[in-house]
Amino acid sequence: MTVVRHSAPGRVNLIGEHTDYNQGFALPIALPARTVVTFAPSDSAEMTVHSDRAQAPERFPLDTTPGAVTGWAAYVAGVIWALRRAGHQVPGGTLTISGGVEMGAGLASSAALECAVLGALLRAGGLRLDPMEQARIAHRAENEYVGAPTGLMDQLAILFAQPRRAQLIDFCHLTLRPVTFDPDAHGVTLLLINSHATHRHAGGEYAERRASCERAATALGAASLRDVQHRGEAALAEVADPGAARRARHVLTENRRVLDTVEALQANDFAAAGRLFTASHTSMRDDFEITTGHIDLIAEAATDAGALGARMTGGGFGGCVIALVPAPRRAAVEAEVRRRVGEAGYREPTITHITAGDGPGDRATP
Ligand code: GLA
Repeated sequence: MTVVRHSAPGRVNLIGEHTDYNQGFALPIALPARTVVTFAPSDSAEMTVHSDRAQAPERFPLDTTPGAVTGWAAYVAGVIWALRRAGHQVPGGTLTISGGVEMGAGLASSAALECAVLGALLRAGGLRLDPMEQARIAHRAENEYVGAPTGLMDQLAILFAQPRRAQLIDFCHLTLRPVTFDPDAHGVTLLLINSHATHRHAGGEYAERRASCERAATALGAASLRDVQHRGEAALAEVADPGAARRARHVLTENRRVLDTVEALQANDFAAAGRLFTASHTSMRDDFEITTGHIDLIAEAATDAGALGARMTGGGFGGCVIALVPAPRRAAVEAEVRRRVGEAGYREPTITHITAGDGPGDRATP
């Protein structure tokens, strides 16, 4: 049987955080960095998985069930479990993972791994599944096998990615619309500032935010916050629990900002997009309370030094900040971020210029 290779990128969400499980909007792009999976199928009823980030391989039967495999290999086992549950045959063999997407950085390394493994298994089995179905299978692996209550954004962002495009995702109607995103063509640079402070989503904070949003929706007699989007923030006066009301305010205002960002990008108005980024960060800091002092400092330093706007990207509690920067200000922004982070005693960040990359495929490099 022939060896196959499949790779999937990480994602950077431009704006629209914690909106996916509230049936709202988000606007992600794919990263150039990719997780690469090589699969050598065999007649075995087992899967052996090697990773360049783990010392020892993991081995488990193809009929694995939730709870049997934990840690990083659970994402792999979960994909196999979800594929089989959807009625597809999965061959056994040896999977080798080399991860180009940093873990715990808010760049969807888990979804990149799921999508790369899924693509390799489909390729080896000669199976074709449309990207929406692939997203559902990868998402089910994460929710039901791994047990992380995440939304569908990461899988959709990865599977539908296109170069120089962001995807406007409507999670209520499950539709995606490509939006041109090529700031470099307009003298603007998108910087990815990795704090190297890692988070863990399976942890309680993410689930707690999700539960607060659900409480707010229930208090308003709605199935999801999306159902009250048209009423605006005024609707939240009816939510008695002030904590839940603040979480919901983030979601409602963030949905608006996503749509406003799309308009700004369509008009090539990066200054307006930058202001929306900064407003999103403020909302995540004050209403949703998912930033950290370290992340706030990076975002502030970037805007103080001339970025058009900056915001944390991803689930929160660490990870990365993105900043839209006029190209001539790039060096000054980088220097100021490094200076302020160093002065505060945090770890030196990694700062890279990124562009919107391509979706999954068989290549090993960007
Ligand atoms: C994580 C989750 C996503 C989404 C973001 C926050 O990346 O996997 O589903 O909720 O956090 O926007």
